[in-house]
Parts: sequence; structure tokens; C-alpha cells
Amino acid sequence: MRISEKPVAARLKELGVEWRPGISLSEKTSLGIGGTTDELLLRRFDTIPEVMRLLANEKIPYRFLGGGTNVLVDDGELPWIVLHLPTSQPGMRVEGNAAHVDAAADLGGMVTFCAKHDLGGMEGLIGVPGSVGGALRMNAGAYGTQIGSYVREVELYRAASGEIETVRGNDIRFDYRHTSFAPEDLMLRVKLELPSKPFKEILAGIKVCNEKRRASQPLNQKSAGCIFKNPPGGSAGRMIDELGLKGHRAGDAMVSDRHANFFINAGKASCADMLRLIDDVRERVQKSFGAELENEVILWKN
Ligand code: EPU
Repeated sequence: MRISEKPVAARLKELGVEWRPGISLSEKTSLGIGGTTDELLLRRFDTIPEVMRLLANEKIPYRFLGGGTNVLVDDGELPWIVLHLPTSQPGMRVEGNAAHVDAAADLGGMVTFCAKHDLGGMEGLIGVPGSVGGALRMNAGAYGTQIGSYVREVELYRAASGEIETVRGNDIRFDYRHTSFAPEDLMLRVKLELPSKPFKEILAGIKVCNEKRRASQPLNQKSAGCIFKNPPGGSAGRMIDELGLKGHRAGDAMVSDRHANFFINAGKASCADMLRLIDDVRERVQKSFGAELENEVILWKN
């Protein structure tokens, strides 16, 4: 979708928004898949409610793009614009056992920053690609750690009220790869409370997680991490692997030969390729194991 009207563009500029016309989301997502649209960089938090009102009045549909590491975006000209928080120099500060971090910060960068201040607990999250905001929204987790356990406060743009609000951690539900945030809520900042731990110990934990990850996941290939959630008590990766589907393809979309729940873009995969592969694998797992796999990756398709 394109913001072609000059008055809207001029008003957005007054509100501190940078307009980037015609960007390809294939360059903004870890899968390297996605069509074209306009992007707005929200440079000022305080004007966000007004920017949202303007977009609503102008009937311009939008989606929030974080790190782009857990989305599968449709091909072609997209029917919505994307909103993005600037990622250069996101704020991070520590105060006792509390870490205050901007949602645009890199998740791994935040884990390392806190480690340097002798604050641990999040070692398992070190290799999870993406932004802090995306991790909050999905309650990202790995190796027994979920970010939600450490959240004390989240500052967000709440779509339901149209205002910026601060929500206490206790009032947010953090489930397995799911939270009570609405899809239209925009994470802005988080306050985490972390256990004190000497830097050296945290570093040792980080090393162990990095090694485990390197040994089992295709880190140097284009993917969105795990495609499916694990069904209760089961493992999507193991089931897909047991069906002999590693290396199975639809066009350039391929089941990783390293971890069967990672689907990779092995060349010029389209969203359509990836969706065909997802449906195919889901059906085979359903037939053989009777398990209904639910997407873990978020699909941006109208
Ligand atoms: N397995 C296989 N073949 C495979 C992959 C896995 O047999 O191709 C087996 C493993 O040997 C193991 C079991 O399946 O016995 C579970 O595998 P793994 O330890 O790799 O964990 P996972 O359940 O597949 C989850 C998360 C990952 C996270 C890891 C590590 C989900 C959907 N996935 O994977 O998160 O990194 O644990 O904690 O919950 C993600 O969210 O995108 C993601 C990658």
C-alpha cells in the first residue's frame, strides 16, 4: 500500500515520522520473503496516538514490524503499510535488579547488556533472533527460559484505548508463545526484574546455550525459527523428522536438514511456496500422528 497523498505525508512528517516509500519486506524479514509496501518509522513515542488516529481517519491499514524474525509475509504489493520503531541506539539502562529496555532493542543485545551488569536469568534467550518488543509479544522462550517470567512493567501503545499506557507484569498473561496483548498493541518499553549473577557465570550459561543451538539449528540459513508450536507433550520437529521430511521442498521452501521444525528459504522462495510446504507437512503429521500442528510463525496475509 502506498501513501500517495501529500497532505498525509506532510502531517506525518510534522509528527516526527519518517516515511520510506516502496520497501521490500523480503529485505526486512529473516526468511527473506515478503512483498512491497511503504514503511513509517515512528521516531517519537509521544506522537504515536496521534499518528494512529491519522492513519485511522485516512483509512490506511497498518501492521507493526519488529525484528522480522517470526513472520511470513505475503508476496506482491501488500494491502497495508508497516510501522517500525527506529533501532539505532535503543535505550537500555540498569537500576539495581531492574533493567529498563526499549522494545526496539535487539533481544540478544539486551541479554548481553544485562549480563555486563551482573544480571542473569535470560541466558537461554541469547540466540533467539529478534527485537525485545517481538519477544514480549510472543513470550519468546528457549532452553527453559521465557521472557515473560521477568517482566515487571510494559509501556505500550494500547489500541483499545488509543493511548500510551503502562501495564504491570502481573496483569499480563504470558503463555507458551502467546500473551494477552492485542495484535494491534505496540510494545514500546519494558522493565524487567532479573536475578543478580556474576558476569562470568552468565557467560558460561550463554556459551552452553549457544553450543546447543549451533548443534541443532540451521543458524546460517534464512528461516523464521520454528514454524509450528509444539503440541502439548509432543515435539513438532521430532514428528516431522520421523516422517523423513528433512530436505522436503515446495519450490525453494525447504524443511531444514538440521532441524525439521525450521523451514528455510533455500533460494528465491515465495510466501506461496512456504505456505504449500506448511500445509503439506501439517497434513502428513495429522495423518500419521493425529496431531494438529498450529503455526508458531505469524502469517501476514489478508
Ligand atoms: N528432534 C528431532 N529431529 C529434529 C528436531 C528435533 O528428533 O529435526 C528432537 C530432538 O532430538 C529433541 C526434541 O525433538 O529430542 C526437541 O527438539 P529441540 O530440543 O530442538 O527443541 P524443540 O522443541 O524442537 C524448542 C523451541 C525452540 C527452542 C528450542 C530450545 C518451539 C516450537 N521450539 O524447539 O524455539 O529454540 O526448544 O529450547 O517451542 C522458536 O520458537 O522459533 C524456536 C526455535
